[in-house]
Amino acid sequence: MKAKGLLYRDVEEQVLLGAEQIKKRVAEIGVQITADYQGKELVMIGILKGAVVFFSDLVRQIDLPLAIDFMAISSYGSATKSSGVVRILKDLDHDIVDKHVLVVEDIIDTGLTLSFLHSNLLSRGAASIRICALLDKPDRRLVNLACDYTGFSIPDAFVVGYGLDYNELYRNMPDICVLKPEIYQQ
Ligand code: IMP
Ligand code: MG
Repeated sequence: MKAKGLLYRDVEEQVLLGAEQIKKRVAEIGVQITADYQGKELVMIGILKGAVVFFSDLVRQIDLPLAIDFMAISSYGSATKSSGVVRILKDLDHDIVDKHVLVVEDIIDTGLTLSFLHSNLLSRGAASIRICALLDKPDRRLVNLACDYTGFSIPDAFVVGYGLDYNELYRNMPDICVLKPEIYQQ
């Protein structure tokens, strides 16, 4: 294993999901999406900023013509807990009427963010809306939300890397790691 530099200083020793393991799973999800959306007009929506790394890897594993768009949303709350009050910071560039929409998120925690997004997008006349999340913390779910494509189910711990941040840092970590609790408890 390569030596970890300053970037890895604040995480627990154990890497939760390594870059190779993530790559393999992303390829599997890509194959599944490719099969499911044959002959459909697919628009993939990446949720900024946490999903950008996953999104850019995933779209390249899908062997279909597809359009991409992005939304940025902010959920009020502390850096490690979302409140469910969601605000759209950047909306889609194009309408999604009659399109098959696949929303790509980094992680489903309480489910509040995606549940807001799901009903918001549904009201815009899409032909279908599905959700793809790299990570899922089922133990923390507060609302009933079906995730159509899930990368990994993980325990209730705060993780960073592969797009996921704490206070905007660690997104460029190739692996997904558990943040040392003393970093956010101080
Ligand atoms: P939810 O609304 O509680 O499902 O929260 C989803 C959002 O909270 C994600 O898009 C992340 O930005 C953030 N989040 C939840 N858990 C984590 C975590 O373990 N690490 C980093 N961000 C997280
Ligand atoms: Mg975040």
